[in-house]
Amino acid sequence: MNPNLENKLKEELDELKTNNLLRTVDDLRFISSTKAIDNDGNEFLVFGTNNYLGLTHHPDVIKAAQETSESGTGSTGSRLTTGASFEARELENNISEFKNVESTLIFNTGYMTNLGVIYALTKENDVIFSDQLNHASIIDGTRISKAKVKVYKHKDTKDLENLILDEIESKKDSNLFIVSDGVFSMDGDIAPLPELVEIADKYNCTLIIDEAHATGVIGKTGKGTVEYYKDKTGIDLTDSVDLQIGTLSKALASEGGFVCGKQVYIDYLINKSRPFIFATALSPATIASANAALNLLKENSEEYLNNLNSNTSLMRKLLCDAGLNIVDGETPIIPIIIGPAELANKISKELEKEGIIVSAIRPPSVPKDMSRLRLTVIATHTKDEIEYTAQKIIEIWNILNKN
Ligand SMILES: Cc1ncc(COP(=O)(O)O)c(C=O)c1O
Repeated sequence: MNPNLENKLKEELDELKTNNLLRTVDDLRFISSTKAIDNDGNEFLVFGTNNYLGLTHHPDVIKAAQETSESGTGSTGSRLTTGASFEARELENNISEFKNVESTLIFNTGYMTNLGVIYALTKENDVIFSDQLNHASIIDGTRISKAKVKVYKHKDTKDLENLILDEIESKKDSNLFIVSDGVFSMDGDIAPLPELVEIADKYNCTLIIDEAHATGVIGKTGKGTVEYYKDKTGIDLTDSVDLQIGTLSKALASEGGFVCGKQVYIDYLINKSRPFIFATALSPATIASANAALNLLKENSEEYLNNLNSNTSLMRKLLCDAGLNIVDGETPIIPIIIGPAELANKISKELEKEGIIVSAIRPPSVPKDMSRLRLTVIATHTKDEIEYTAQKIIEIWNILNKN
């Protein structure tokens, strides 16, 4: 027993509560890709998931999970012991083909992928250059790494180059790494990949791009950031990105993470990456549902991405026309900047009363005074749902902002 620690923890929690920063877990059950119920059976329209293509409720995805469960539920061990299901290899091959790379390795979450890749590849004398707004899993990967970490200003490639120049003389025998989200999880903007590639080539850096919110979301067939720039410039940067990291938990409607690139990296990670080696593998059913979602994306990319893009444009236009402060962009992550955490919380709670769930994102996930509603639109939202939600957000914002 340590009553002192208990008291200190309670004090910290009380302080979080006073500052409107206390996090709690509300129970929800999805009844479709866009609607969920709470414990009392109240129904909500949800505009906050990462289920970008709405495939969590596609019959093919559900059937794949059900049928695969027939041959057992848990994977029973790490991939290096007894957990090497056929489904895992099938999905890895499918991702490699989709991303047009040599090889892929699945991890249990996107979070563990970032930790496991960054920690395994970087050594004491190395330097990691990391975008200021990278996801927490990248930040945590750099924190547990023994390498030196330099954070460059968000998407500021001049700052990145200056930081590299500061290090390069004293780091002649070291490896340099540039790590960036492809689509940034909180602002929804897109990394300047061509410039990152240019700098990585110029200074011999290994380039790692986290495609968690890009795979299935940007690029004309949903291949992500590389395809997005190929569509724009005609230049294919696939071979210039050393490693793409992704997740199975967002557009691929399941859970898990992956890293893909040259075979040598994958062989190395199989041998050295602790989250891969020391964790029980994902269940075959989880992997099979991600694979079914990927197959659907490959077969229907035009339809899915058209729906996602037109829903995104409609929501962005409605909010923008009403004068809300949304971060400019083109992805379905639409941050409505509110400012104070208390007001963001209040708006989220008022929306809940109207049957709409949009999460308030507060520090430490975003900087102080940049609290926001992180609204996400998905391909299966209807026009009516988007218009209703935009109208409610605008009404509530107008009332609360005046008070
Ligand atoms: C950019 C980014 N990378 C990685 C992750 C972690 O992925 P997962 O939820 O599969 O652990 C997330 C979000 O969850 C993310 O936004």
